[in-house]
Formats: sequence, structure tokens, C-alpha cells
Amino acid sequence: MTTYITTPIYYVNAQPHLGHAYTTIVADTYSRFRRLCGDDVRFQTGTDEHGDKIVEAAEKHGEQPKEYVDRISGMFRDAWPVLNVKPDNFIRTTDTDHIATVQSLLQRVFEKGDIYFDEYTGLYCKGCERFLTDKELVDGNCPDHQVPPQEIAEQNYFFKMSKYQQALIDHINDNPDFITPERYKNEVLSFLSEPLEDLCISRPKSRLTWGIELPFDEKFVTYVWFDALINYLTGLGYPDNEKFSTYWPVAEHVIAKDILKPHAIYWPTMLLAMEIPLYKKLHVHGYWNVDNTKMSKSIGNVVRPQELVDDYGLDALRYFTLREMSFGLDASFGADAIIARRNSDLANDLGNLFSRSTAMINKYCAGKVPEVTNDPADKALIDLAEKAASTYKQEMNTFNFHKALQAVWELVGFANKYIVENEPWALAKDEANTERLHTVLYNLAECLRLLSLLVRPVMPETAEKMAVGLGLSVDATQVSLLDTDKVWGLLESGVELQKTEALFPRIDTKKSEEKQPAKEKAAKKQKKAQKGEISKDGLMGFDAFMKFELCVADIVAAEKIKKSDRLLKLTVNAPEERTIVAGIAEHYEPEDVVGRQVIVVANLKPAKLMGVMSQGMVLAAKVKDGESERLVLSSVSEKVPAGTKVA
Ligand code: MSP
Repeated sequence: MTTYITTPIYYVNAQPHLGHAYTTIVADTYSRFRRLCGDDVRFQTGTDEHGDKIVEAAEKHGEQPKEYVDRISGMFRDAWPVLNVKPDNFIRTTDTDHIATVQSLLQRVFEKGDIYFDEYTGLYCKGCERFLTDKELVDGNCPDHQVPPQEIAEQNYFFKMSKYQQALIDHINDNPDFITPERYKNEVLSFLSEPLEDLCISRPKSRLTWGIELPFDEKFVTYVWFDALINYLTGLGYPDNEKFSTYWPVAEHVIAKDILKPHAIYWPTMLLAMEIPLYKKLHVHGYWNVDNTKMSKSIGNVVRPQELVDDYGLDALRYFTLREMSFGLDASFGADAIIARRNSDLANDLGNLFSRSTAMINKYCAGKVPEVTNDPADKALIDLAEKAASTYKQEMNTFNFHKALQAVWELVGFANKYIVENEPWALAKDEANTERLHTVLYNLAECLRLLSLLVRPVMPETAEKMAVGLGLSVDATQVSLLDTDKVWGLLESGVELQKTEALFPRIDTKKSEEKQPAKEKAAKKQKKAQKGEISKDGLMGFDAFMKFELCVADIVAAEKIKKSDRLLKLTVNAPEERTIVAGIAEHYEPEDVVGRQVIVVANLKPAKLMGVMSQGMVLAAKVKDGESERLVLSSVSEKVPAGTKVA
């Protein structure tokens, strides 16, 4: 069989965090699982790099859009190996082949008559990068971004989405697994029960240039979703590459609930118009909060993947996210919860089962997997192992990772009880029990072999350690293939165990407090954000200082402000032109300052001074001359380009 699994392509206006990490770990786990089942798998992720939001973010960082997107896209690419996530393809919407394919598909839909030109007035949310309907607003605000959308009237191109509404409803009804979990399918069907509006797919270049130009009108670029969604095709080399014919028929997309509408409505109707078969499945998950609070930069509780790996360990993080979130519902991340899972499920349950069992095989069987004899007393263990494997497969296939792991941990618990009930240390005391002792220890080793296989997609490193400890090579079919009919009894007697370190040393909660895991860090950050950053002794934190945007500006014009002895109105380039009102009129004549370079605070809130809007502040030294004070304008020691940052 074949599998094609994708994550959303992430916007490069923010750095990777727990939310992005979760979706990508899900896709990685599923791709590893399908590989274990013998599938030919392709897993794709990437970055979405066009649109207003990106230009805004680049400007904020004082970078050109291309320079900025290259940098942040690189951060996403680098985040995945940290999480042991191994995509087969990393796509970027600024890739030239993607741009060419988007243009050819736009042309096709345009020629078909499904794209038309019209004037539109609507409520546009910059955060969502789309027009919102009145119905979607909550107290006049966008429900996701809690800000009122802007009313925008402009001429644009529209995609006849409404033409495909009925075909989409029919498809959803005919294919019950098209959108899962069911609650999201119902949400989409309920939305489709009202007439669909057509989709605005362009932006005039006068408002946005950072996008893909429409092939039929060079004055426009395409709206981000029409560009972004097509990544799922271009990543397969659509239309000519054979990857497209191999993988597209089995395409499965993983997303969170925030981008349900674009994936469940825009995308399938676009595919219908393009006359390309629809994707096979859409898997929709909920949102991660942190300590039951929405993750947000302004609160300061955004959790980064690298920090989590450093604090809790890679496999513990992967396990925790998949075990803790019921796929489809929201979940809360907390330091206590992840430490509890690590210490209980991983160190106590799985780790102890592994170390006790291997220690007893070392002690009583000279470190070799013993012979096994069929004994009806072991039927319950074997039945449960077979049941766990089959439940696991079923739940992994339907994205119920938490249930799959529950089934596996039932087996872990049962195996630990099996040790207690069979008391191998007592059997070892009497040679007459050797056969039984060997059988019990074989069953434990076999159980560990099966467990190493089942946890492998979720915790690849741990699975490898377990396999190696059991004396198996990592690629041995017994620990690398799940598609066999026979679940139990694949471990061969006589195999020599290898020494391994403990799978999961416990996290000492006291020490971890000292180490300040994510929760404490977040709380600290939050406190800082709430309190302001100047401490009682008047000192400023580095972060606070970094918020100042200082840059070099060229003064290109200056004039006195009527009725004010103190103020000069300066026109500066920084590098864009802006007006700054400066209190230097008593010290400088307008003609003295034109042509000078000064240092300005560029991100000061605009304010009106004597009726003139000032967009920044010019820095100057205040020199005491006896009783009076003299201002000396700041500058840099050699001429530099206007807009150069001062840091
Ligand atoms: N660029 C678009 C997607 C285009 S796909 C053709 C976009 N990008 S995004 O950077 O905002 O990523 C949204 C996705 O990131 C969510 O759908 C989800 O996969 C992940 N998450 C971001 N924050 C999240 C949480 N707090 N919790 C869980 N996942 C979230 O939308």
C-alpha cells in the first residue's frame, strides 16, 4: 500500500512552537507507523511564505521579505530533526516550480470560466488573511484574533466556489471518512447548509506585491490560500512526475481546527474546478493550550520544541503529546503533567518492565533468550498481547493515538503483573521449575519485543534501545514490521541480550524545579511581561532593550512649526519617509540639520505635537552649560545607509 501524509505549510511570521510541533509529530508518527505496516510512504511539510502578514513581519525585523522568509523557513527546517521528525519533502511556496504550477492551475480555472472579476466590499481579517462573514464575528471581532476586521472595498478576482457546493456536500456524505473526527465533518456540513459565497482569490499589487502574479492579469497577485493549498500537489511534482500518480490518490492532510474551512471547503472545491481528484482524508485536531491558557507571545507562554526536549527528553515529549491529547479535542500542556507521564508511564511502567525482565534473563539464563514451552497459564498474556496489537493498529490507522497508546500500556501493566504473579525469583530457587522459569522469562522478552515494535512510531529512540537490548538488530523484521499475521512468538530462543542503559531515568521533581521546566519559565516570563521590564533599581532587562527599534535616519527637510519656539518638523528617510517632530528649534536652524544623519527611535507610537503627527523621536545629547542646557544631535561616526539598525 501507499501513504501520502502532509502537515500544513507553516507561516513564517512566527517561529516553531508546541502547536506546530504536535501536528508535525503526528504526521511523522503516522508515517513511521505506515512504514512499519509495509507501506511506501511520503511525508511532506514546509513553509507558507507569501502574503501581508509575512511582509509585515519582515518589516518589523528590518529585513527584506526574501531574506526574512529564508531565515524563518530555515528555523522550521531545523526544528524537525530536534524532534526526530523526518519528512521526505520540505516545500516552500517561494520555490520556482511551485510558483509555475500555481500559475498554470489558475490559468486553467480562469479559462474554464470559474474565475471572474468583480468589485467587493467586505470585512477583512489580516490574521486569517480572508474576508469574514457577519455571522462569523463575535461582538464585532474576528473570533480567532479578537480584533475587528477592516472594511475593504476593491476590485478583485473571484473563484466560483458556490458552483461546487452541492458536489462537495455529496462527496462528504458519500465518503464518511473524508473529514474526521466526526465533529469537524458536522461543522463543515452545517456551514455548507447555507449558500456558499464565492472566494476572493486576488490582491491588487497596489496593496500587496509579495505573492504569485496572476497569469491573466499582471496587476494582481493571488490570495494566499489559492497559493498555499496547491503545495500539496506541487510537492509531488504535479502534473508530470510519477510521484503525483503514485501518492495523490491516497493523500491525507493533518491540520488543526483553525484552518478547517480552507481545507474542507476551499481546497476540495478548487480541486473540483481544476478537475483533479479530491484528497482522501482530512484529519483535524484541537488546540494546545499551556496551563489552560491560550499560547501567546504577549502573555509570554509560548513553548518552543528545543526547550521541551531539553527539559523532558525527546521521546517523553513525543509520547506525552500523543498520549495526552485526544485527537480532535483541545489539550493543556503543563510541566507537572509531562513529568508525571514520564515518571509513571515511561520510567515506572515501561522502563521497569524492561530493566527487571532483562536483568532476570541475565541472571537466570546467562543473558540469552530462553526456550519456551506452551503453557495454558500464559494464555491471558498472549491473548492480551494479540488484542493490544490489533487495537493499536486500528486506532493508529484512525488517528486515535491516545487510544492506541492506552492499549499498549494495558499490555505493559499486565506484563508487570505477570512478573509479580509468577515470581521468577522464587521459581529460580528450585531446579524442578527451570522449564517454567524459562517460559516466563521468554514470554517477558517476547512481550518486550512486541512492545518495542508498537512504540517505535511514537518513540523511535526508545524502541531502538529496546531492540538492541534484546539482542536484535534494529532492522530485524521482528521489530521493524507490523504487517505480519503472527503477532506472538517471533523472538528466537538463544539470542544474546546486550547491555543497555535505563530507558527512562526518572525526572527528579526537585531538580527539575531547579532546572525550571517550561511551566515555571512561562510563569516567570508572564510575570515579567505583566510587571513591565524596568526593575525597582531602574535597570532594564535585555529583552526590554531589544524592543527599542533604533535606526539611522537621513534628514531630508526641516521647517519651524508655527507658534512653537521649541519644535522643528523634520522629514526623514529611515529608510521610508516619515515625519518626526523634534524639540531642537532653540539649538538648530532648519538649514543646519538638513543633510545630517541622526539616530531615531523608529517604533514609538505616533503622537500629535502642535497639530503635526510625529512618527518617532530623534535622539540628542543634553549638555549642561552652567545653568542652561544645550542639545547636540546624535549620529554615527561614518555615513551609513538610511534605515541601518542601531543595536
Ligand atoms: N499557512 C497556513 C496553512 C496553509 S496549509 C496549506 C497556516 N499556518 S500556521 O503557521 O498558522 O499553522 C497553523 C497550524 O499550526 C495549525 O493548523 C496546526 O497544525 C498548528 N498549530 C498552531 N498552533 C497550534 C496550537 N496551539 N495547537 C495545536 N496546533 C496548532 O495556517
